[in-house]
Amino acid sequence: MTLEDAHREDVRTVLELAGEISDRQFDRPLAGKTIFLAFFEPSTRTAASFELAAKNAGANVISISAQGSSLEKGESLMDTVVTLDRLGADALVVRHQAAGAAALAQKFTQAAVINAGDGCGQHPTQALLDLYALSGALGGFDELAGRRAAVVGDILHSRVARSVIPGFRAAGMEVSLVAPHTLLPQASGAWGAPVLDSVDEALEWGAEVLYVLRLQRERMAGARIPSVAEYGSRYRVDKRHLRPGVWVMHPGPVNRGVEIDGDVVMGGASLIPDQVAAGIPVRTAVLMLATGVEAGVTA
Ligand code: NCD
Repeated sequence: MTLEDAHREDVRTVLELAGEISDRQFDRPLAGKTIFLAFFEPSTRTAASFELAAKNAGANVISISAQGSSLEKGESLMDTVVTLDRLGADALVVRHQAAGAAALAQKFTQAAVINAGDGCGQHPTQALLDLYALSGALGGFDELAGRRAAVVGDILHSRVARSVIPGFRAAGMEVSLVAPHTLLPQASGAWGAPVLDSVDEALEWGAEVLYVLRLQRERMAGARIPSVAEYGSRYRVDKRHLRPGVWVMHPGPVNRGVEIDGDVVMGGASLIPDQVAAGIPVRTAVLMLATGVEAGVTA
């Protein structure tokens, strides 16, 4: 599923289970499960935290990447998925450069397919771990309702934005979009969120969370911004924007000095390290739900 269909209680189920995992309430809950990590696009934190999540929980974990697998020899995603299915996969965690790849993979296997990022599509576990980190900072899941979050930057190319916006909404938060029109998807009106022109405007709007996105230059066809300096003058989060009660989040990888200043990344208002740490319990929870170890929803 994507977070576009998620209800408040679905999100609560995942986050509560992640909290129980953090409290060490389960002993090797994924023992006996075979989990393939199929990352066909670069990843540091997502790949590492899925691997730790699965291994700490006792699963058999096999990592496949495009380089070094038969994909390099021209094998299709479909044939790769069928192969992993016949090898006894209980879950496939898939990252792929094409939007829709995880949904396509699900058609060829009985195993649970978990989307770890599909092109400019979705990145549901990122949004769930963001909600876990934020609810930890605010004092609980119910504290999220009514909070205002500004999603700042390259929304057009961001699968994170496409999961975080409905994810924040599912938790009862209000969302605004802070981006130049050249970095907004044409369909962004469907979110019904106000579009603001700068980080300063977002703070005037009452943002308590500045959720900053990387400028995804590898996905940009043609010039979308006049220059990094001009982009930065409106959309870069720096020390000037920090004030009590405002949290800064970023899914990583961070381009320091482009969309966010280095001193903000490491500062007291930054939840970025908490977001990374949240990846392990949240992804363990998602793997447990997806493989039927714990009944409930899957991401
Ligand atoms: C992001 C991704 O790959 O979608 N990172 C992540 O998974 N934490 C965001 C990005 O690449 O900018």
